[in-house]
Amino acid sequence: MTGAAVLGGLGSALPSRLVTNEELSESLDTSDAWIRSRTGIRQRYWVRGESTGDLAVTAGRHALKSAGVDAVDLVVLATTTPDHPCPATAPEVAARLDLGPVAAYDIAAVCSGFVYGLASAAAHIEAGLVDSALVIGAETYSTILDPQDRTTSVIFGDGAGAVVLRAGEAGQCGALLGFDLGSDGSRRDLIVVPGGGSRARTAPVDAPPAGRYFTMQGKPVFRHAVERMAQSARNVLARAGWTPGSVDSFVGHQANVRILHAVCDQLDLDRDRAVTDLDRVGNTSAASIPLALSRAAGEGRLAAGDRVLLAAFGGGLTWGSTALVWPDIPAL
Ligand code: UT7
Repeated sequence: MTGAAVLGGLGSALPSRLVTNEELSESLDTSDAWIRSRTGIRQRYWVRGESTGDLAVTAGRHALKSAGVDAVDLVVLATTTPDHPCPATAPEVAARLDLGPVAAYDIAAVCSGFVYGLASAAAHIEAGLVDSALVIGAETYSTILDPQDRTTSVIFGDGAGAVVLRAGEAGQCGALLGFDLGSDGSRRDLIVVPGGGSRARTAPVDAPPAGRYFTMQGKPVFRHAVERMAQSARNVLARAGWTPGSVDSFVGHQANVRILHAVCDQLDLDRDRAVTDLDRVGNTSAASIPLALSRAAGEGRLAAGDRVLLAAFGGGLTWGSTALVWPDIPAL
């Protein structure tokens, strides 16, 4: 093992189509008041013709510019909504970014995908396999939402966020201070797109076609999200040698402001330490943490030297956390 993986650049991308709660209330039995009070979401952005790869390319370009580089050795793309079932989206993104014949692959860990991607890229760097990596979380959930399902349609948004990691030293600002990752496949039923895989093909010979839309059992997922993110955060804080009270900013997966506050309560962390971005973009799954980082850094909410805790939770079930001292980098 050599050194550490250090955050060196940060970028983001949102589609142009703004979708307000009022607009959704015209076609669904819902209201701005319900959505705001139960989730904290005011609006989200949905693609109009763009793909996950398109958003990933823009966010990736911004992250490379933020890092002041035009080359990396590895591209890891976390997504649940790839451009195609096959091939992975990352190689095309790498090619469109003119990165040459670098290693490039997708990671599927639903809303925990970005933290899983960070861990995977950091492990490559720490093992000396590569010197730098572009890690992207990119999603277009609007392409898998059932427009008639008010329990999911009001929650999810599209977008992408990306970071550049470089080989560096454990003591420097931006160094990722360890990871806690986990899963519980016995509750895979809680968040599912039933059709399209090998177990339930979209056009099977001997069974009715399985649904292609995203489904989620909100209530149990809520409970798991709070418990798993809080425990994972505790584990990674212990690894970093930090007390919860010493955390300046908690950047959790942006599923629901009530979940973020409940995790803060469990950690005995002031609720105002939770960075909130879901009011602006909804739940963007694997893109939610890098989008929240971009916004918080861009607004000066994250300052160089701040202690930052990241925690994610998603379908699978999966979860993951990491921690870092914030570096002095621009968010583009
Ligand atoms: O990103 C991956 C991880 N995902 C999460 O962490 C999401 C976790 N879950 C949640 O954030 C929340 O469970 C939801 C936001 C999804 C739902 O909020 P809730 O407070 O748990 O609502 P609920 O599902 O218990 O539903 C309460 C009521 C129900 O009506 P009844 O049965 O009480 O008459 C729902 O039918 O609210 C109704 N409802 C709605 N009403 C208006 C559900 N969705 C809507 C809606 N508009 N969009």
